[in-house]
Amino acid sequence: MSRVFRLEPSAPERDQAKGGIVAGYLSPHPPHLIYADNPPQNEPRSTGGWEVLRWAYDEVRRRVRAMKPDVLVVHAPHWITMVGHHVNCVPHPRGLSVEPIFPNLFRYHYDFRTDVELAEALVTSFENHGLVARAMREEGVRVDYATIGALHMVNPKWDIPVVSISANNNPYFYAEAELGQMEVLGRATRKAIEQTGRRAVLLASNSLSHLHFDRETPVPEDMSHEHPYNNSQYRADMALLETVRTKPSSALKTAIPEHIAQTEAETKSGSLTWLLSALDWPATTGDVLGYGTIIGTGNAVIEWRCHD
Ligand SMILES: [Fe+2]
Repeated sequence: MSRVFRLEPSAPERDQAKGGIVAGYLSPHPPHLIYADNPPQNEPRSTGGWEVLRWAYDEVRRRVRAMKPDVLVVHAPHWITMVGHHVNCVPHPRGLSVEPIFPNLFRYHYDFRTDVELAEALVTSFENHGLVARAMREEGVRVDYATIGALHMVNPKWDIPVVSISANNNPYFYAEAELGQMEVLGRATRKAIEQTGRRAVLLASNSLSHLHFDRETPVPEDMSHEHPYNNSQYRADMALLETVRTKPSSALKTAIPEHIAQTEAETKSGSLTWLLSALDWPATTGDVLGYGTIIGTGNAVIEWRCHD
């Protein structure tokens, strides 16, 4: 009987063991996507809708499963904290998440695991970078629909541990985007991930242009009523995506604030800037997997890969 000894790990095993951020996704969360997806966790039923965006998420699901990350780290704009950046350190969040404007579309029963060690390391790293930070340890605090929405669309099986980070409210209120702090938050996130040796995929839970209709159609998923809010919003989204597709991500340092000024974009909450900063503004272009409007808002699913 022969025995094979391997002294050195193979190249893929070395990559697996190395840790760090593997990829990041702009992963918008409108509740309509979950409603249209008809998962067992969501109470309302639909006949579908918004298929092109959901096909983009199908591709994200395939890619993320192939990467086998240790953890998904999400920054979402609807867990709003007035003071500082909070990190969910509850080991096993479970409950019912309801979208307050669209309870007819989103009543989602969630049940997932937090990577508590990484969550606590993030709090420490945020503080070490001069940010106000807090570990959220209250069992039973309802997880917001922007966190759930992005996580469900990327991994509906919920079999990868999660860390979720709040949105400090200030950038959302002021006319001028205050994104500098999100750059620091991104750097601090990368440091904690590297120190804990995790292989992480990051999710920025943001739509693009964010003006939306104020009347719902009798059938919410009636796609004959779906279109951009107006042409200037659509053109601004396309200009931003052209930059994503053709230029290194550092070009977005100026393109994101310009786009926010033109469109009231949800990226004002900082999730996308956090994501790109955590990825250290990769010199590559982004892979736009899909774009579509949801009640008039612009939504893009985009991947940025990290390369050694
Ligand atoms: Fe939102």
